[in-house]
This record gives sequence, C-alpha cells and structure tokens, in this order.
Amino acid sequence: MTRVLSCIQPTGDVHLGNYLGALRNWVSGQHQADVFHGIVDLHALTITDQPHVLGERTLHLAAVLFAVGLDPNKATVFVQSHVPEHNQLGWVMECLVSYGELSRMTQFKDKSAKREAEFVSAGLFTYPALQAADILLYDADEVPVGDDQRQHVEITRDIAVRFNSRFGETFVIPRAVTPKVGARVMDLQQPTSKMSKSSDGDAGIIYLLEDPSSIAKKFKRAVTDSENEVRYDRNNKPGVSNLLDILSACTGETPESLASKYTQYGSLKTDTGDAVVATLTPIRERASELLQDKAELARLLAVGADRARSVAMKTLSRAYDAIGLLRP
Ligand code: TRP
Repeated sequence: MTRVLSCIQPTGDVHLGNYLGALRNWVSGQHQADVFHGIVDLHALTITDQPHVLGERTLHLAAVLFAVGLDPNKATVFVQSHVPEHNQLGWVMECLVSYGELSRMTQFKDKSAKREAEFVSAGLFTYPALQAADILLYDADEVPVGDDQRQHVEITRDIAVRFNSRFGETFVIPRAVTPKVGARVMDLQQPTSKMSKSSDGDAGIIYLLEDPSSIAKKFKRAVTDSENEVRYDRNNKPGVSNLLDILSACTGETPESLASKYTQYGSLKTDTGDAVVATLTPIRERASELLQDKAELARLLAVGADRARSVAMKTLSRAYDAIGLLRP
C-alpha cells in the first residue's frame, strides 16, 4: 500500500478553508493509503518566542484532526516532538545538505526577509533538513504538498539520493504529489484572497470551532458586489461565487445549479451560513468533548506516537548502520 505523509504546523486556528480545502480529503485519504499525519511542533518552534503556547496549539490541532474524522486505527496521527527520531535524523540530514542548497530555499528567503527586524533563528535556515527527516523516516512514497512546499520535497529527494549513493541504499525516494483539492475557500471580506491564517482581522475567516451565531453573523456581512444577480462567475463576482462554492462544498450540489435557485444575496448568505453551521456542528462538539477529556486525547496521541516510533526507529537505525556509526 502506498505510504503517504502529510504534516501540519500547529500555528493559528484551523479554519473552514483548511477543512474544505484539505483536511476533508485527509479523512477520505485514510481509506486509500497508509497515511501518517504529523503535527510538526518542532517546525513551529522556528518562529515561536512565547512560553506555553505551542503545547496548547498542538493539543487543539490534535482535537480537530480527530474530530474531523481521522481514525486512530487507520491513520497515524502523531506529534513530531513525541518521536525523538525526528531530531536525530534531522542532524544527519543537516550534514547531508549544503549551505548553498539551504540558501536557495525561497521559503527561507521570504520568511527571513519578513522577519528583518526580528530574530532569525538558525532553525529557520535548517528547517528543510528537519522536514527531510520527517519525510524519510517513514519511507513515504508520496508527500502531498502545495506549491510553496515543492522545493522542500525536491531538496528531500536530493538529500535521499545523495545519502543512498554515499552510504548505500537506505531511503525511499519520495514524490511530491498535488493533493486532491477540495473547495478553494476565499476570505469572506476579501473574496479575491484565500481564507488564510495570515489575513489581518478575522471578520472574513470562519474558524472550525467557532460558535454558530458568530458564523451566521460573518456570513451576513460577507462582501458581495453591487449587482443583484446570483451567478457563478469567479472572475467578475468573486464574493457571490465564494458563497456558492462554500454552499456547494457543504451540500454536494454544483455551484451553478445552486446559483439558479437564488435571486437574492440575503437568502444565499443565510443558507450558506446555515449549511456551514450544520457541517461544523458535529466537528465542534466532538472537538470540545476531546478537549474536555485530555486523558483520552493523550491516549489517542500515544497510539499515534507508538506507531510512528516503531517505523521511525527502524529507519534511523538503518541510516546509522549505513553510515557505520559505532553503535552502543
Ligand atoms: N513545511 C511544511 C509547511 O510549512 C510543514 C511540514 C513539515 C511538512 N514537515 C513536513 C509538510 C513534511 C510535508 C511533509 O507547511
């Protein structure tokens, strides 16, 4: 069976765009492949400067992942820092990637430029080496990533090929694959930009665990246009089309056929808000149950960490042996 690895950083709250665009496909994907999902807290550490934030975010994200339907008996959901092999192989990866290669990573250039006046950690620079460890530890065949992460999967392949030719066949060479994308959800206030944790203000963002009255309010205030025709036309009517796309993702009907049922923006907004509430309610309820039962959440994460470790330990050992480190 194909082994698939995807990881997500515990930064910011999960929103409707994450869910309809990606997480929902993780849930169906668990029936089609052997999937590993890491919550990569050590990656988030590269830009973390406050105490006691990361752990809470990690727990929250874990609750969301289980609440949306990842089944601990099918999918391996684990926290990166619970599997120390990531750090161990991460160092090996650092020694197999060059300064020049890391310097060419566009994500590092962008992130460090944005942090001009702030602390730029060495971890931000060596980040792709840790990511390579994440991927290679699990003998992943496929890594579904967006365009912003393709370069990191490429460098992982380069490192794996280099390791295998220097020290002998050890790692599976992973492929970056384009994830099946669900709906492309745009910001409700700025329907030409994607709904994103980095937008300023959150009037245009629907959080996965947001309460229903707040969701309804945000949909009522969603930006549309000054016409009064409900038509699916992403270029000329981004606000209305976004509502139709969201409603379509929640109901399974096509946006075009939905458009034909509405003559007024008001009722489209109300119905879309209602459909989103109906979709998110069971998720919110399950997540809050889990967040109130920390022992159960910890148990689920321990199941994931055990399974992840049993794979990761073997791979790390294989790598150490290939290099020929003196074993204790
Ligand atoms: N770098 C990825 C991001 O910023 C997160 C990530 C870390 C990742 N390790 C990974 C993604 C391994 C895929 C595979 O989104």
